[in-house]
Amino acid sequence: MNIQFPEDFVWGAATAAYQVEGAAFEDGKGESIWDRFSHVPGNVERNETGDVACDQYHRYPEDIKLMQEMDLQAYRFSISWPRIYPQGTGAINEKGLDHYDRMVDALLEAGIDPWITLYHWDLPQALHERGGWPNRDIADWFTDYAVTMAERLGDRVKHWMTMNEPWVCAYFGYRDGIMAPGIKDHKLALVAAYHFNLAHGRAYNAMKAIHPNLKIGITHATQQHRALDDHPESRALAEFLWEENNGIFLEPILAGSYPQAILDKYPDQVPTLECTDLAEMNNYDFIGLQYYCDTLIRNGERVQEKLPEFEYTEMGWPITPDGFYNNIMEYVRRYNPKELAITENGMALADEVGRDGRVNDIRRQGYFKAHLSAVHRAIQDGAPLTAYLAWSFMDNYEWACGYRPRFGMVHTDYATQARTIKESGYLFAKIIRNNGF
Ligand code: FCB
Repeated sequence: MNIQFPEDFVWGAATAAYQVEGAAFEDGKGESIWDRFSHVPGNVERNETGDVACDQYHRYPEDIKLMQEMDLQAYRFSISWPRIYPQGTGAINEKGLDHYDRMVDALLEAGIDPWITLYHWDLPQALHERGGWPNRDIADWFTDYAVTMAERLGDRVKHWMTMNEPWVCAYFGYRDGIMAPGIKDHKLALVAAYHFNLAHGRAYNAMKAIHPNLKIGITHATQQHRALDDHPESRALAEFLWEENNGIFLEPILAGSYPQAILDKYPDQVPTLECTDLAEMNNYDFIGLQYYCDTLIRNGERVQEKLPEFEYTEMGWPITPDGFYNNIMEYVRRYNPKELAITENGMALADEVGRDGRVNDIRRQGYFKAHLSAVHRAIQDGAPLTAYLAWSFMDNYEWACGYRPRFGMVHTDYATQARTIKESGYLFAKIIRNNGF
C-alpha cells in the first residue's frame, strides 16, 4: 500500500488527566467526581482508582522523551479542573497552574505541540454538590476556568478543546449512572447536554476575546449506528440514535439549532430553547472526531452479543474501519464542518511485555493501518481532516474498566511505572516520519 497524507497533516497521541496523572490528592488539588466515584466499591472493576494511574504528574519529563522517540508532533492532554480551582470556583491553586505551565514549556522545548482539553470528565466535586452540569450556572463556572487557562497558557498553546465527548458525560454520567457522577435520570441528562453546549459556546467566546488566534474546538465520540439489515425499524432506530448521540451536540454547535427528533421525542425534557443560547452555542473552529467502532443494529434492536462476522477488541467492541470512513463522511454530509481533526482512535488489547522486552501488539498495528486508510480515503473524498491523534499515548486508567484494557502505544507496568514503547508505537513513529505508509 502507498498512502500519503497531506503535507501539513499533524500526527500525535492523546491522554486525559484522570487517566494518567495520578497525584490525586497532591499539591492542593481538590476532589473531582471521578475521585469520589472510583472510591465507591462496586463502581469500577476490581475497585481500581486513578489515585496513582501512570503518575504522569511526576513523570512527564520521562514521557515527553518517549514522545520524542516516537516523533510525535502533538500531545493532547487534559487539565484537571479541580487542580486549578479545588472548589470549582473561587480560589485558584497556583501549584496546579505552575504544573501545566512547566509541562507546556517542556513539550514545546521538545518540539511537541500541546493540544489541551479543558474538560475530560473530572468535574470538581464541590460543583457537583452545587448541582453540577444540570445547573445552568455551570456555563459561567466553566467559562471562568477556561478564561484562567487561556490567560495563563494561551500565549503558547494554540489548540484547545472545551469538552471531551459530552455524550458520555451526559448519558453515562446522568442517564445510565455507569460513570461519574453515577446518576440515573433521563431529564437531567438532557438538561446537562444543553449546558455542555452552552458552556462550550460561552467559553469559546470568552477565550477568543483574550486571544483571537486560538483554535478552539470540541471533541465528539462519533456514534454511528449501523443497521445490518433492511428492516425499517432498524433504519429508524439507527437514525434516531444518530440524533440522540451526535445531533444533540453537533447541530447546536455547527448549525445553531436542535435536532427536531429529540424535541419531538422528549418535549418536556429539553430546556426551553433560547435564541440567545443557540447563538452562543453555534461557535467552533474545529471538531475533534473520535472513533472506536460502530454500534450494530439488527431486527430493530441493538445487537448485544458478539457476531461471528466481526473481530472484537478487549473492550468487546467490534472492529469496523469502514464505519470510520462512513462516519467522517456522514459528518461532512450532514453538517459541512469547516475543519475536522481525529482526536482519538485506537484499540484495547491485553498487552504484555515479552521475554525479549518487546510488546508485539500485532492486532493494534493492523487496527491503525486499517483506520488510517479510512481517514486517508475520507481526505481523498473531500473531508477537511487536518490531524490524527491516536488513543492512547500510553496504557492508562480506562474509567469504569480500571486498568484492564490497554489502549497505549506505550506499555505501562503499573507496579513499577516502567514504560515500554510497543511495536505499534514504533510503527506509528515510522508512519509519522514517512507521513504515510
Ligand atoms: C473515549 C474517552 C477516552 C478513552 C477512550 C477509550 O470515549 O474519551 O478517555 O477512555 O474512550
